[in-house]
Order: sequence, then structure tokens, then C-alpha cells
Amino acid sequence: MQVKDVDAAVALINAYAAEDRMLERGRDFVLEHVHDFFVAQSGAGFEGCVALAVLTPELGEIRSLAVRPDTSGRGIGRALVRACVDEARRLGLRRVFALTLVPAFFERCGFTLVSLGRLPEKSAAECPVCPKRGRCDEQAMLLHLDGTRPEPLRPDEPVGYTALRRSPGTGAA
Ligand SMILES: CC(C)(COP(=O)(O)OP(=O)(O)OC[C@H]1O[C@@H](n2cnc3c(N)ncnc32)[C@H](O)[C@@H]1OP(=O)(O)O)[C@@H](O)C(=O)NCCC(=O)NCCS
Repeated sequence: MQVKDVDAAVALINAYAAEDRMLERGRDFVLEHVHDFFVAQSGAGFEGCVALAVLTPELGEIRSLAVRPDTSGRGIGRALVRACVDEARRLGLRRVFALTLVPAFFERCGFTLVSLGRLPEKSAAECPVCPKRGRCDEQAMLLHLDGTRPEPLRPDEPVGYTALRRSPGTGAA
């Protein structure tokens, strides 16, 4: 992403955030993390964005995925996810995940629904300071870059950080 795209990305992300469909991002935050972002462009201009954050030497997180509503359903979201996965491979990561309210979309991109409890790098480090920590119903979608299938969510496992915290025996704080 170029700095000229920052305002369009922030406006789109925060329009969805106002509908509680994704997390809000400040302009300064996006500017600081501009290297993490990819954008989709057409002749008409900015169509969407996504970010890949590196959490550990083996794990990456797809964040801030947003496609303009008037261009949705045309494969742009999938292309943005693919850009992150390609970049994750180039960086030498082994796993990529997203926390999302649209798990079916990530399933179409090859991800598997898993327990957030099996991503302690996220749930222990960042979820406790997330603004949605007390009302998190986001689902964890994971992709192994070596082609193996992650262990899918079991029926007895909790969904979202809030349920994970309340669930005994998960080891989560
Ligand atoms: C979710 C979102 C990124 C999808 O982008 P998109 O460009 O419309 O998606 P694509 O056209 O690439 O769709 C890829 C596939 O996912 C499916 N899909 C798209 N949105 C879906 C949804 N909300 N639920 C279920 N499946 C969905 C498509 O039907 C398509 O399926 P196919 O493999 O059969 O062709 C977009 O709708 C969006 O920005 N939503 C609001 C913000 C948001 O929820 N972001 C995700 C935060 S993690």
C-alpha cells in the first residue's frame, strides 16, 4: 500500500467498524503499519485492503480485510487474502490465521475453523487488550502453509475470546 491509500483504507475499515463488522483502526495506526497492507485497485480507484501482521517467527495474522460494498462478490476479497498468503510464504511463516465474523468466506479461501485456544500467541498476548475482549464472538480461521489441515474446532470447544476465558480448563487467562 502507498501512503496515498491510507485515508481510503481507514474510511472503509471504520465504516465497517461502525457496523461492528470489524475492528476500528486509527489513521496513525494504519500509517505506521503501511508496510503490512495490500490494496486492491481498479480503474475506478481503491477497492479494498488487507494487512498481514507477523506475530511470531512462524505465525501471521490477516487483519483489516475490507472490500468496498459496491465491488463485493467479484473475487477481490479472495485476491487480497491470497496476497497475504503469498507474502507469508515469502517471509517463511508456517501458519496464517484470521479472527473473523465471516468464517464461511475464509473457508472458501481454504482456511479451517479452529479453537482460538490453539492460537495462544494471539489469545494470550493481544486479545486481553482488545476493545472487544468482553464481547468477542469472532471465529479463528487457520491455514497451514505446508498443506496439512489444522485440527478443526471440536463441538465442545468455545468460540471467541470471551467464551474462551470463561471456559474452564483451557488455560486461558
Ligand atoms: C468479507 C469480504 C472481505 C468478502 O470480500 P468479497 O470480495 O466480496 O469476496 P470474494 O468475492 O472474493 O468471495 C470469495 C468467496 O467467498 C464467498 N463469500 C464472500 N463473502 C462471504 C460471506 N460474507 N459469507 C460467506 N461467503 C462469502 C463468495 O461467495 C466466494 O465464494 P466462491 O468460492 O464460491 O466463489 C467483504 O464482503 C467485506 O469487506 N466485508 C465487510 C468487512 C469484513 O467482514 N471483513 C472481514 C474481517 S475478518
